[in-house]
Amino acid sequence: MSAIKMDGKAVTAKMNALSRERAQRLRAQGIEPHLAVILVGDDPASQTYVGSKERACMNAGIRSTVIRLPGDTAQETLIEKIQELNADKSVHGILVQLPLPMHLNADQVIEAIDPMKDVDGFHPINMGKLALDLPASVPCTPAGIMVLLSEYDIEIPGSHVVIVGRSRIVGRPMALLMINAHATVTVCNTRTPNLGEITRQADILVVATGHRNTVDASMVREGAVVIDVGINRFEGKLYGDVAADVADKAGWLTPVPGGVGPMTVAMLLSNTLDLAEMQRG
Ligand code: GUN
Repeated sequence: MSAIKMDGKAVTAKMNALSRERAQRLRAQGIEPHLAVILVGDDPASQTYVGSKERACMNAGIRSTVIRLPGDTAQETLIEKIQELNADKSVHGILVQLPLPMHLNADQVIEAIDPMKDVDGFHPINMGKLALDLPASVPCTPAGIMVLLSEYDIEIPGSHVVIVGRSRIVGRPMALLMINAHATVTVCNTRTPNLGEITRQADILVVATGHRNTVDASMVREGAVVIDVGINRFEGKLYGDVAADVADKAGWLTPVPGGVGPMTVAMLLSNTLDLAEMQRG
């Protein structure tokens, strides 16, 4: 591998040390930072993610409450639970783990979260603020990518950022963050013809499709920064969205695991602390 490995684990350790200090300061002021996580159903990947969020909160001195609801929970029951958490002054951040079971309307669920407690930044008010470059909760994965790029001194203003994938969790907020950071931004999706022609123009290439081998070395410019957001399980192993041969062509590359994944959890802690500090006034 000739690309410089962008070590999300190392950056996370540094960020989490800061989060621990921030949590301690809040506690010294009589405020216990508190994240509430709602998990509906028993999707194994979601259970794993929620478990790692719980552990990270505990290590940082942030209280976490995980509310596990059965897979057949009614929309009204879930919304009532969110309203309860909105009204609970001891809770600073609320996260509903996605995806939700098919019978639930995720848009309505997210809109029920108080935007001031929307630790994921998925509420339309926070997405709208991000689009306007106003202060807002920012979705954890793209926020983590911005921190990782900054830690490796990657210059964003004036660069061409190509994003493959337009999800609400990664692609869209990533595009907005990059626009706000003065990049030239191209967003591709599964219907983009000649994807390689576009990805080869990228100084910074963010791949977030949820499909293994979306991008291979032939689609990457020599020396480019490649951010692999994918976590795909295949024959018992973890793979990103980027093929292994990209490591010989890119200048910088995030590994899977150990790249973007840990950054997402670190940003969740930092977003929770932002909200707790804000609600303190
Ligand atoms: N599912 C996958 N990623 C995320 C995330 O960042 N937040 C939530 N709530 N659910 C997710």
